[in-house]
Parts: sequence; structure tokens; C-alpha cells
Amino acid sequence: MDWGMKNRMARIIRPDTGRAVMLALDHGYFLGPTHRLEVPEETITPLLPYADTIMLTRGVLRTSVDPDSGANVVLRVSGGTSVAGPHLEDEGITVDFEEAIRLNVAGVGLSVFVGTEFERQTLLGLSELVNQGEKYGIPVLGITAVGKELEKRDSRYLALCCRICAELGARIVKTYYCEDFEKVTTSCPVPIVIAGGPKLDTEMDVFNMTHEAISRGAAGVDMGRNIWQRDNPVAIMRAIRGIVHENMTPKQAHELFTELKEQSS
Ligand code: 5RP
Repeated sequence: MDWGMKNRMARIIRPDTGRAVMLALDHGYFLGPTHRLEVPEETITPLLPYADTIMLTRGVLRTSVDPDSGANVVLRVSGGTSVAGPHLEDEGITVDFEEAIRLNVAGVGLSVFVGTEFERQTLLGLSELVNQGEKYGIPVLGITAVGKELEKRDSRYLALCCRICAELGARIVKTYYCEDFEKVTTSCPVPIVIAGGPKLDTEMDVFNMTHEAISRGAAGVDMGRNIWQRDNPVAIMRAIRGIVHENMTPKQAHELFTELKEQSS
């Protein structure tokens, strides 16, 4: 691996723990003003110190993140569809590499929609991004998106998607946690981070899912709604960080969460 690629990978996956805490803030690119991300700066600023990287679009980066903050950025570079349109999966590449370099990104991310009529287009989009990313030393995050079909998230389907992303050259893959998750991680030769998915019932559910994912081979999280759509997002984020980087159990993470929540009230 060349120096630039290595350096950027180290900004995403901490070399001392081999793990990553990524904060996903990119939802507006197809959902518009998502609940609790209506004013991005208000949501992002308090969480920034606890994220190894933030994952978002160039628009929100420029308008809502202080360039002096030292934030490491994984830029969302796919889009072109919305929740109001007929085909969420019909995405293309939205940002070129000059722009990504100008924004000093640690990586770029794009969604693939395997098994849909747009799989070819999105997989070729991933390949094109990898061609450019490898040229400039910028790692590509392949995101195994499921659009509105959340029930697709089983280990057979996600293992297929993750492996394809890795085969096409993604340096990291983002997917969902699922039953038999080790089937997904063992057959994917690059690190996997998990999305949180829609808001879970309790904080303990979030800590359990994070812990299970790590125990079954995930390198970390790239989580959004289960952090900032909940009350006490900073406490949640710090507890998740404890699981990912400090091997906390879900119980220890919950104790830390409760302590931080009480301190801030
Ligand atoms: C969709 C995405 C999301 O925009 C987001 O990053 C997912 O994060 P979460 O599910 O934790 O809210 O990647 O494919």
C-alpha cells in the first residue's frame, strides 16, 4: 500500500485498535431533512470529538462542519435519487476526485444495490471509483444498500453484496448486522463496518448489536440514526466507542451511558 492510501486508511481504522467509529450523517442525500438532522450543524458539533470519521455529503460538510475541527471525512459520493422518486436504487456518482482531494477526504463511499435492476450500474460505479481512488490513494467504502427493502438484510444476501464490493476493490465495506453475521465477515477479505439501521427500541439493543457485530468480526460501526435520533446522543456515542475501541461489554457500555447521561442532566 502506498503512503497516502495507508495514511488515509489509518484515519478511518485506528491502527492501535484495528477498529473504526464512523458517524453516519449522510441521510439527507436521499431523505432530505431527516428527523434530528434538520439543522446538521447542531447535531454534528457535539458528536465530532467522539467520531474517528464522519460520513456525509460535500454540501453538509461545507456548510455545517468547521474546517478547523480536525474532522476526518468519508465523503458520500453517490446519489441522484430520493425517497419521493420511483427508484431509490438508480444512483450514480455525484462527486469527482478533484473535489474529494480538495476536501482532503480520508475516503469516499458509494452505495451498491445488488439484485436490483440497477446492480450493474452501481457496481460499475463502484469499480470506476476504485480505479480513481487507487490512482490517488483514496480508499473507497462500498455500501451494501437495500433501499426500502429492509427485509433483505440476511446473511446470505449481505455476504454476497460484501464479497462483491471487496472483489471490485473496495478497501472497506459497510453493511447491516444480521443473524449469522460471521458468515458475512469471514467471506469478506476487507474490513466491515456496520450501519445501525432504523432506530432500535432501547440503548441496550444498540450496545448489544454493536458488541455482537464486533465479536463476530466487524471492524467497527458507521452508525447514524441509533446515535443522533436518540436522546443523549453524546452519551450513546461514547458508550459505542467504549465497545469498539476498549472492548467494553454491553453492560459496561450501558453503565457508562447512564453515568454520562446523569452528569449532563
Ligand atoms: C444508506 C446509508 C445511510 O445514509 C446511513 O449511512 C446509514 O446509517 P444508519 O443506518 O446507522 O442510520 O448508508 O445506505
